[in-house]
Amino acid sequence: MDSIIVFASGTGTNAKAIIEHFNENKKAKVSLIVCNNPEAGVLEIAKKEHIPFLIITKKTFQEVLLLEQLHDYQPSLIVLAGFLWKIPEHFVHEFKGKIINIHPALLPSHGGKGMYGAKVHDAVINAKDRQSGITIHEVNERYDEGAIILQARCAVKEGDTADQLARKIHELEHFYYPRVIEQLLASK
Ligand code: GAR
Repeated sequence: MDSIIVFASGTGTNAKAIIEHFNENKKAKVSLIVCNNPEAGVLEIAKKEHIPFLIITKKTFQEVLLLEQLHDYQPSLIVLAGFLWKIPEHFVHEFKGKIINIHPALLPSHGGKGMYGAKVHDAVINAKDRQSGITIHEVNERYDEGAIILQARCAVKEGDTADQLARKIHELEHFYYPRVIEQLLASK
């Protein structure tokens, strides 16, 4: 069975969708959740699902020990789901081709450092874009610039608030992210 490590530091609705997907089909399992926020909602999900979690700091994130700890779980994929820190270069090389991210807009638009969650939706609305969506992509040494694996779109209606747009985006994310992960694992 393939092992997936999820990096998440927010509410964790994507982590939950991934966990539930693989609870059903058993082709893989989320074996570890890595989080940089001890208050994050995703930790409640980890506890409820009996999934081990690891809380990291800016310092431990840079350490070789973290790589060793992650190798213990023999991950086929490392999945970022609402994780905002830039992945260090040595980490990207260590797990080359195995790290993916989800971004709540159609990259290359509205990406880069500091662009996450509501900030992205505000930027889309302020730009008067008529559509937004999600981008699932490989992670390289630069924010939001890795090869795109999948994009899915939704309409941005006149008068949509950032909250309303976030709901549409989450729906797309929860549907596509687990399925893309399943396909990537099948093709490895
Ligand atoms: C998701 O919408 C994800 O696309 C976004 O954070 C949210 C986490 O939600 N990630 C980024 O903005 C990365 N730049 P969740 O905690 O409910 O899964």
